[in-house]
Amino acid sequence: MHISDAIRDRRSTRRFTSREVTRDEIETLLSAAVLAPNHKLTQPWRFHVLGPEARYAYGLALGNRKAKKIEDPAAANTMRENVAKEHRALPVMIAVAVADTQDAEAREEDYAAAMMAIQNLSLTAVSLGLGTHIKTGAIMNDPAARAAAGVGDGYRIVAVVNVGEASEAAPAKVRQPASALTTWMP
Ligand SMILES: Cc1cc2nc3c(=O)[nH]c(=O)nc-3n(C[C@H](O)[C@H](O)[C@H](O)COP(=O)(O)O)c2cc1C
Repeated sequence: MHISDAIRDRRSTRRFTSREVTRDEIETLLSAAVLAPNHKLTQPWRFHVLGPEARYAYGLALGNRKAKKIEDPAAANTMRENVAKEHRALPVMIAVAVADTQDAEAREEDYAAAMMAIQNLSLTAVSLGLGTHIKTGAIMNDPAARAAAGVGDGYRIVAVVNVGEASEAAPAKVRQPASALTTWMP
């Protein structure tokens, strides 16, 4: 597949079929991820591939946060359990962590490199007939979510990427054309 076709066809995929994503495919995605540019070759990324138990535990951590906003205890419990089960049902969930340096410049560059790695992963997924969905948010700092993903001290989760075969074709979201966002300097 040509790279421009992969860029064009990529979508954030929220619903997946039951098609299994093989370990080989996951390794192909991660091998593409580590080819991303990274300043000073810090290779700041760490990939945590969550199995079903870990996905359930991560989902439970997220469900607990959502449940705190619900007054009715039965409804809160349902929320907790539903979110946990939804995560367990995901074909693949990869937490991407980076070194948690306090140096502002290195922190920004490592974060940028990790996002480039995720884009490599996402475009390679398209070439394998797979969709991806990048998820972020406060959950990434939740101790229970970090523990579920196996992320230890000295690293912070910067995104979780869900991977699987899309269950439906999604239209591209409309973007402003580059020409409207570009300044050509003499
Ligand atoms: C850094 C980053 C964080 C994101 N976080 C979330 C998220 O927490 N939840 C979510 O539903 N989508 C998240 N997305 C996906 C965007 O919402 C999505 O890329 C955007 O709507 C454009 O749609 P498309 O990817 O299908 O082109 C994130 C994307 C990026 C790049």
